[in-house]
Formats: sequence, C-alpha cells, structure tokens
Amino acid sequence: MAEYWNITENAQVNFEKFKKEKPEPEMSITYKVGHKDFVNSGKASSEIKLMLKRLGVNPEILRRVAVASYEAEINVTAHSIGGNIICDIYLDCVHIKFKDNGPGIKSLEKALEPGWSTADDLVREMGFGAGLGLPNIKKNSDIMHIDSEESKSTLLEIIIFY
Ligand SMILES: Nc1ncnc2c1ncn2[C@@H]1O[C@H](COP(=O)(O)OP(=O)(O)OP(=O)(O)O)[C@@H](O)[C@H]1O
Ligand SMILES: [Mg+2]
Repeated sequence: MAEYWNITENAQVNFEKFKKEKPEPEMSITYKVGHKDFVNSGKASSEIKLMLKRLGVNPEILRRVAVASYEAEINVTAHSIGGNIICDIYLDCVHIKFKDNGPGIKSLEKALEPGWSTADDLVREMGFGAGLGLPNIKKNSDIMHIDSEESKSTLLEIIIFY
C-alpha cells in the first residue's frame, strides 16, 4: 500500500481544525465514473464547479477546484476500471473523494513525477497522457491525499478552502 500527502502551509491551521471538529457537510453528492467513458467524464467536475459558483465561491477558488477535480475525474476514467466521486460541500471548504475499483497505481512515486504516464493508445488519442494530471492536482489543491493499493484500488482526495 502506498500513501501520499501534500498539505500546503497556508491550509495547515484550517486542516487541523477540520480534522478536530469533524463538521457535517452542508451537502454531499455522489457521481459514478465509468471505465474509459470519455463522453461523460468531466461532467461531475463541471457540476461541482457550478454548484460552488451558485454558492458564491470566488472565481480563483472555482478555477482551482475545476482544474483539480477534472484531472482527478479523467484519471479514474482513463486509468481505472471505474469508480465514484463523493463531493462534500462545507461552509468553508470542499472535500472531493475519487474512489476507484482498481487496478491501483503501480508506483506512486513515479506517478507524481511530471511527465510520467502509463496512458494507453486510446487515452492518448483522447488527448491525455502527458503525465501532468497529478502534479496539476497538487498545484491546485490545499490538501491532496492518495492511498493506492496495487491490484486493488485508489483513493485520491482533495480539500480546497474558500
Ligand atoms: N486512478 C488511477 N488508477 C490507476 N493509475 C492511476 C490513477 N491515476 C493516475 N494513475 C497513474 O499515474 C500516472 C500519472 O497520472 P497523471 O494524471 O499525472 O498523468 P496522465 O493521466 O498519465 O496524463 P495527463 O493527466 O497529463 O493526461 C498515470 O499515467 C497512471 O499510471
Ligand atoms: Mg491524468
């Protein structure tokens, strides 16, 4: 099992408070993500962005949520056999979990390196496979956590504070 955490310095205090207080989300929505379903992949991230926009979240935060969640959603479509997304909306942050049913990330260390990709021909034909998704998720989220077990499953979760 491999695990990775990235916690930005600015978010440390908020994250400690979040873990301690364990607030109930104001809203929780689950989406399904299908294996290689590039027709529908991206819809969940668009909906999440729209919801937050309606709630009055500022454009720079919306941009970061949109980029990070789109990359993570596409990764489930492109690299896994499918899974789901759980989006929990809180008063001061959004917590999005991308859970898939395998096959897990072979080398988490390599996967996090910009430019490293195992994308197959179909994924590359769809315009993905530059190996920049995970670095982009890291750059745009306050908290990024990956828990992946080879031949089993991957959980990637992000938290972005408003
Ligand atoms: N959910 C997942 N399940 C299995 N492997 C994954 C998953 N997400 C990422 N990976 C692995 O990590 C690698 C790097 O992911 P990353 O998103 O950075 O690049 P990419 O998806 O290959 O290309 P890009 O995101 O630039 O289109 C992938 O090529 C894949 O091997
Ligand atoms: Mg990717």
